[in-house]
Amino acid sequence: MSYALSFSATDPATLWAEAADAAEALVAGEPDGIANMANVTALVWQAIPDLNWAGFYRFDGTELVLGPFQGKAACIRIPLDKGVCGAAARLRETQRVEDVHAFPGHIACDADSRSELVVPIVADDRLIGVLDLDSPSPARFTAEDQSGAESLVARIAAALAS
Ligand code: SME
Repeated sequence: MSYALSFSATDPATLWAEAADAAEALVAGEPDGIANMANVTALVWQAIPDLNWAGFYRFDGTELVLGPFQGKAACIRIPLDKGVCGAAARLRETQRVEDVHAFPGHIACDADSRSELVVPIVADDRLIGVLDLDSPSPARFTAEDQSGAESLVARIAAALAS
């Protein structure tokens, strides 16, 4: 396994596919979910352009708790009835928000964030947490970004679960 990752694609679908291949290789054989989240966060931060925050919140059985991330310090605990992250976790559905200021209950951790993509992580029907991406650009995330991120998460969900 080489840790010197490089990403060459310029179209989002191929870039996400490259990122998902790299993520799968990074977590292969490693049972520690937090270590895997840390490496996948670094990978997404490196591969995906125009982000100001990228990371994980882990579900502790009651609420979401801050996990490995890149970006500015963020709120630590998010109840499932709060924020974009809470909605993704509660509904187990990706939230793609073009304008965070228009999302009821959005939690502003970084004032630079304008749009957000939050993908729930489910393994064996158990909620593990969410992958949260923030961008300083309005409507940064397209349907291609959503399906790319969902596919990446689906391929590594089991390795994030421990
Ligand atoms: N904006 C998120 C909170 C987490 S930060 O963006 C890192 C939300 O509304 O759930």
